[in-house]
Amino acid sequence: MTTKWSPDSWQSKPAMQMPNYPDAGVLADVEGRLKSYPPLVFAGEARQLKRALAAAVDGKAFLLQGGDCAESFAEFHPDNIRDTFRVLLQMAVVLTYGAACPVIKVGRMAGQFAKPRSGDTETQGGVTLPSYRGDMVNGMGFTEAERIPDPARLERAYNQSAATLNLLRAFAQGGYADLHKVHQWNLGFVADSPTGERYQDLADHLGEALAFMAACGVTSETTPQIRETGFYTSHEALLLNYEQALTRVDSISGGWYDTSAHMLWVGDRTRQLDGAHIEYLKGIGNPVGVKIGPSIGSDELLRLIDALNPDNEAGRLTLIARMGADKVGDLLPPLIRTVKKEGRKVVWACDPMHANTIKSSNGYKTRPVDRILAEVRAFFAIHGAEGTHAGGVHFEMTGQDVTECVGGGQDITEADLGARYHTHCDPRLNAQQSLELAFLLAESLKEERGRNGERSD
Ligand code: PEP
Ligand code: CO
Repeated sequence: MTTKWSPDSWQSKPAMQMPNYPDAGVLADVEGRLKSYPPLVFAGEARQLKRALAAAVDGKAFLLQGGDCAESFAEFHPDNIRDTFRVLLQMAVVLTYGAACPVIKVGRMAGQFAKPRSGDTETQGGVTLPSYRGDMVNGMGFTEAERIPDPARLERAYNQSAATLNLLRAFAQGGYADLHKVHQWNLGFVADSPTGERYQDLADHLGEALAFMAACGVTSETTPQIRETGFYTSHEALLLNYEQALTRVDSISGGWYDTSAHMLWVGDRTRQLDGAHIEYLKGIGNPVGVKIGPSIGSDELLRLIDALNPDNEAGRLTLIARMGADKVGDLLPPLIRTVKKEGRKVVWACDPMHANTIKSSNGYKTRPVDRILAEVRAFFAIHGAEGTHAGGVHFEMTGQDVTECVGGGQDITEADLGARYHTHCDPRLNAQQSLELAFLLAESLKEERGRNGERSD
């Protein structure tokens, strides 16, 4: 028997990865205040994203979802927001122009603060403390005071998300994203590299196309699509008490929406069918994602799909596969075949980051760019062979010139990792490596679209 869904019905299910707050009264006060704060997004925007994603189900659009592994309070700065945003814009323009495909831009931004961890505690030098779970929960420093979960951090994360989203909206609609500015999105440290030059070349061609269109009367003034861009936010729905506090009834449709972001996903560690996180996602009207790793089987996947998308609505559900470059060839095809055979409508996205993490010989958690690109290539090849659509990618990146992932055009070595290793959690692609990924995606997508075009002739 199913019980009726409500924003708090997850509370009767087992909830993994939730912090233990020492003072329930303080937590309840914070939750009470969060409930009264303005929503960060409007339900109509979430529906708009869902419609856009429905096109990605059929290969008529492509989801570009990226940003920080974990946003932090320390790195909260307008330059960081701008730089991440502009690298995502660059990537989108490479895809749109290179593959003639509409790109749905979704940031892991303005709310991506809480992290699942492999252990509840961490031991250093004989001392055991609670694990760091992201700035929204506790502090990264290895002291007892920092590691105690602090409810005040929920409010701080809400405020930082609101300010971040405000700036993103201003950039997206206020002229920064105008296609005439493509040259200016190239960051100084990327411009002189071969990838940067390739981008400049593309920007030159785009400039010519825009000049031609202007001569025909299509300009920034006449055409908002040239002047503005659509940009959406997303994060992992991990701290369910926070998500619950921002879950509101939409006055237009009468349905429940999580107004903390346009899209929410559930992680590979918290996607238990009878668990709290899936229960929560079931009832919200937003588009949702599920990370699926090597442990999932076809039966479990079908049950998960039917739990989250019982009406088989296109655009509601994105499956974010993170299998690893060495396993994707064996593990993904049977899943794709099952979903296709059963006629379930999903966006297939590839997260080439989370199953390609290794430890460097000098002790850093890193990801080889080669493996990241290899998983993406395999993802496209598999969809090509199965006659299905590679609908998107999900990745961790930053606009900064960090040294966290080895390889790429700059040939970052293990010895280089220490130079600018700034992540609060997992290693991210830097601006140049992200652009390299974009060019690979554009080529793969162009090929896929060519194939589909031939098919439909
Ligand atoms: C993440 O996206 O940061 C994450 C923890 O991913 P996953 O659930 O796939 O491990
Ligand atoms: Co991560």
